[in-house]
Amino acid sequence: MRKIALGICSSISIYKSAEIIREFQKKDIKVRVIMTRNATEFIQPLLFEALTGEKVIVDQFKNSAGIEHISLANEISLLLIAPATANIIGKLANGIADDFLSTFYLAVKCPVVIAPSMNENMYLNPITQENLRKLKSLGVIIIEPEVGELACGVKGIGRLAEPAKIVEECISLMERKDSLRGKKILITAGPTQEKIDAVRFISNKSSGKMGYSLAREALWRGGEVILISGPTFLQPPNKAQVIKVNSALEMREQVIKNYKAADIVIMCAAVADYRPSKTYKTKIKKEDEKINIELIRNPDILEELGRKKGDKLLIGFAAETGNFIENAKKKMKKKNLDLVIVNDVSKENIGFGSDYNQVILIDKKGEIEKTKILSKVEISKIIFDKIEKLLNEI
Ligand code: PMT
Repeated sequence: MRKIALGICSSISIYKSAEIIREFQKKDIKVRVIMTRNATEFIQPLLFEALTGEKVIVDQFKNSAGIEHISLANEISLLLIAPATANIIGKLANGIADDFLSTFYLAVKCPVVIAPSMNENMYLNPITQENLRKLKSLGVIIIEPEVGELACGVKGIGRLAEPAKIVEECISLMERKDSLRGKKILITAGPTQEKIDAVRFISNKSSGKMGYSLAREALWRGGEVILISGPTFLQPPNKAQVIKVNSALEMREQVIKNYKAADIVIMCAAVADYRPSKTYKTKIKKEDEKINIELIRNPDILEELGRKKGDKLLIGFAAETGNFIENAKKKMKKKNLDLVIVNDVSKENIGFGSDYNQVILIDKKGEIEKTKILSKVEISKIIFDKIEKLLNEI
């Protein structure tokens, strides 16, 4: 029987936690409840003990086994915190471990899902939003609260998402497990930086979010991940083998080196097509009115891989601003790809830098699938569902 841990915090929506437990139990999933001390001011642990048949954990130092946060961490497939208050979100985002739940979060390696619930002003407060962004960039799945009547009497965003929706999202995450066990997936992410002089470089707006999200998805499915990343501000996923590079030439070197071991290769990095023909060792001085920087072509890494593809599944992205399908098909043919994923990089709300994307997947047979605008986490799920379909067809 699968088991999850449910962290419960002090919100008026705490009554919905009982429904969440019931929904999991209907799917034969065991729930171990962890409550914060403040949550017990709303509801006695007894209610959740009666529902789950297990002792609710509240205090760090009063549970039976002194290191229960470690042993329980190894037993569960997922940690869900619902409702999650601004306080717990702030603690998790900043590594504060001053009670069982926040300590437990640091000890788990499984996917973590957070369903916030609070007053609208608290939710939209820049600090709460910054903390949520930080957690998202660390791979935590956030189930956005809904708009509606709030306990404080106003209408706004902050209502805990519906229990059925929360449970569905969690189960979908748990079901991904192990489908890529035994597969090695090489993923590139982020921009490259092409040096002009000691302090300047040419680069692009890639944040690495899409590639890092793909890496997490592959890990959740039990795959082994080699993440070759250009410079980003993101925290790489725990279990990936991360190789940091700066320039396109460095990225090429590492991709070629690791290509042989991989079963699946996804080139998501925004590799610079050109680099300065000359790199100055010192900082260029502001002397002339005009200077010219000559650019020369970088090698096309994906095209090179396409020439020695073998039985690997080769996937490329296409960053386009128009003629999407036509341009992507050309890239697929030229680079000998099994799948090309096109995204519109002319928009602010998706693609470069955003937490969201909208993609068109085109496979070798010409099958086309267009997604809605979704979080990069959801886009990654769609991409790997397609990849698994292609693997089954080989
Ligand atoms: O990082 P984010 O902020 O999350 O943004 C994500 C993204 C927009 C960067 C990503 O979704 C994306 O589109 N990545 C590919 C960017 C790109 O370089 O596209 P392209 O159409 O120029 O290149 C086509 C393919 O060839 C890509 O798979 C690219 O990795 C590869 N390529 C390109 C140039 C080069 N010299 N070598 C390559 O291997």
